Formats: sequence, structure tokens, C-alpha cells
Amino acid sequence: MRRSSRLICGFLLLSVLLLLWPAQDHHTPSFVAESSPGTKPGGILLVTAHPDDECMFFAPTLLALLQNPHYAPHVHSLCLSTGDADGLGDSRALELERSLDLLGVMKGNRKIVNHPALRDNITTEWDAAVIGDFVWQYITEHNIKAILTFDSGGVSGHPNHKSIPQAIAALAAEMEAPFASDPSSPSPRVFTLVSEPLFKKYTGPLGAILARL
Ligand SMILES: *[C@@H]1O[C@H](CO)[C@@H](O)[C@H](O)[C@H]1NC(C)=O
Repeated sequence: MRRSSRLICGFLLLSVLLLLWPAQDHHTPSFVAESSPGTKPGGILLVTAHPDDECMFFAPTLLALLQNPHYAPHVHSLCLSTGDADGLGDSRALELERSLDLLGVMKGNRKIVNHPALRDNITTEWDAAVIGDFVWQYITEHNIKAILTFDSGGVSGHPNHKSIPQAIAALAAEMEAPFASDPSSPSPRVFTLVSEPLFKKYTGPLGAILARL
């Protein structure tokens, strides 16, 4: 074998070994830990911008929750647009339904918004007040205690994604209630994905090792 191929094989083997190495114990999120089996847990709401966000960005989190029979019936999805940038909104809305079927989100735990102020568009930010109204309505109607969504980087930098955490922060400020930090607070706690820099997303095993470390 040439020296360079030996190096590459060695690197890949090392990557696989490092990835198989047990990760640090993950702390159970407190909204999960605090509810004992006898009590009805509050709802957990995923807020996304477009159909396919749920599987492209949130599948591992959703599956972890949905595979737990205690929490599965309380997982909800609120998608803020039909993803109509290319005129395919109707098909994408149907695809979202099928995706949620496969992931295991119950039929009554879903909403897809189709509102003129929330159009799928890679150049526009969405109005925080409009997002806030839809989120507020959903969390009060369904006793939502935890929200999962994008962080301020939106994972891919899409302005529609980035608008969501901003709107939720504004809603929290308006409610004058701590959304995060205090587990006994009646308002929902917010959990966000962490946007990784481009080089980490596209360096394959190296990116995975960096994430693990
Ligand atoms: C996105 O928004 C820009 C600016 O408002 C507009 O010019 C463009 O037509 C929009 N694109 C779509 C697909 O709606």
C-alpha cells in the first residue's frame, strides 16, 4: 500500500474507533426527568419553517422522544409554511404528513401554517409577531411545556429558520416569564439545535470527531 493510502486508512479506522467510544452520559432533559410515570407530561412542540426540516434537522431528537412510549403521544409538530418557494407547497405539505407518519407524530398533534406573511423565501425574514401568534396559540391549546427549534444560526443560515428563535425570544419577553432556565416555570422551556460552522458540517468523520470531543 502506498504511504498516503495507509495514512487515510489509519485515519478512517481511528475515526470509527473514536465514534464508537461511549460518549459522556447525556443528562436527561429536566422536562423529561421531572414528570414521573403517573403524571401526564406536558407537550413537546417542534417548531419548523418548511416541510423536510423535521427529518433533515430534527430526526434524531424526534426519534429519541417518539421511541419512548411515555412521551410519544405528547410530541407535536408546528410547521410555519408549506414550503411553496417553487410552487410545490401542496405536495410538500403532503410529504410532511407522510414524514410525520413515519416518524410517529400523532395525527392530532400537527399543524401546518399557510399564511401570506410566512411565505417560503430564502431572501426574507418572517414577522416575529405573526410567528409569535401561531406559537402562542399552539402552546396554550396543547399544554406545551417544551419547544424544540432552530438556534439563531438556523443550521443552514436560512432567514426563515433564523426568524423562529427570534420570534420565540420576543414572545417570551412579552410574556415576562422565563422560557428557559427555570424548570418549575409554567412557561415552556426552549431547546435549540446548535448550528455548526460549515467546515465541521462538511468534513465527514473529522467533523463527527470534533462534535464528539
Ligand atoms: C422572495 O422575496 C423577494 C423579496 O421580497 C421577492 O422579490 C421574491 O419574488 C420572493 N420569492 C418568492 C419565491 O416568493
